[in-house]
Amino acid sequence: MLAQVPQPMTDSSPAAEAARAFGRFRNVHQEFLQDDSKRLVAIEDISFDLKEGTLVSLLGPSGCGKTSFLKIVAGLAEATYGVVEIRGRQVTRPQPDFGFVFQQANLMPWRTVLDNVLFPMEIQRRKDAAAKRRAMELLELVGLAGFENARPSQLSGGMQQRAALCRALVHAPKLLLMDEPFGALDELTRMEMHDLLLEIRRVTNATTLFVTHSISEAVYLSDVIVAFSKRPARIADYIEVDLPYPRTPALRYETAFTDFEHRAGIALGITR
Ligand SMILES: Nc1ncnc2c1ncn2[C@@H]1O[C@H](COP(=O)(O)OP(=O)(O)O)[C@@H](O)[C@H]1O
Ligand SMILES: [Mg+2]
Repeated sequence: MLAQVPQPMTDSSPAAEAARAFGRFRNVHQEFLQDDSKRLVAIEDISFDLKEGTLVSLLGPSGCGKTSFLKIVAGLAEATYGVVEIRGRQVTRPQPDFGFVFQQANLMPWRTVLDNVLFPMEIQRRKDAAAKRRAMELLELVGLAGFENARPSQLSGGMQQRAALCRALVHAPKLLLMDEPFGALDELTRMEMHDLLLEIRRVTNATTLFVTHSISEAVYLSDVIVAFSKRPARIADYIEVDLPYPRTPALRYETAFTDFEHRAGIALGITR
């Protein structure tokens, strides 16, 4: 079955790869040793290319290995074997030009919103006037102007996640890694965040890997959906979502949109 679905292009001639790949993943495989010392295969054999400036979703059911894969790309975990390259370099540890957003905002409650956003610059000893200006611009972009001196507890969940987005972007990362960033938000807030993320992507042009188990979220946001099978994760489908940007909420009700949802649903095995 799996052999028949479209698989991503992975032309391996050096010229083709140099021209194309911002990120290159080849035969990424991960196993964990469990407490009973049995092996658990989380990721089977994942290969695809990530083009610069694109937003690519990793879509799959809970527990299939999405976070495991993202952690490897992030340099937070090591693959058992396989190649993970970003901009021509093997990733072995977290990179300063990566940005992360997780399901929980994880803001530091004792800091102001602005100082939370500036935290990555502080670590990199770049917390200067320019950094502060950029942080303020980002806060404005996400609709948090006027809240820079508030504490996280004074913000709603959606606002906290907006601040977390600013923190991920403050150092102008080349690669943005997002792990179910809107999973804890209510549906309406989540849809607002989708439009916000697309606007941010338009402005910053950051290449983005976005983990989700939501089919509609994946279709709405993505240039490409890499649909993972149940664990162990393999590529069940590689879907180029050629719906034009800017995407607007009305698109969600169009046939072209629901056709992609249907295709993704088939890949996930929840419909035929
Ligand atoms: N460090 C670990 N040690 C052992 N098993 C793990 C570890 N991390 C993840 N797993 C297992 O790998 C599988 C995939 O997990 P995960 O990548 O978190 O899935 P997802 O993010 O798709 O929900 C799960 O069965 C999980 O229990
Ligand atoms: Mg996960």
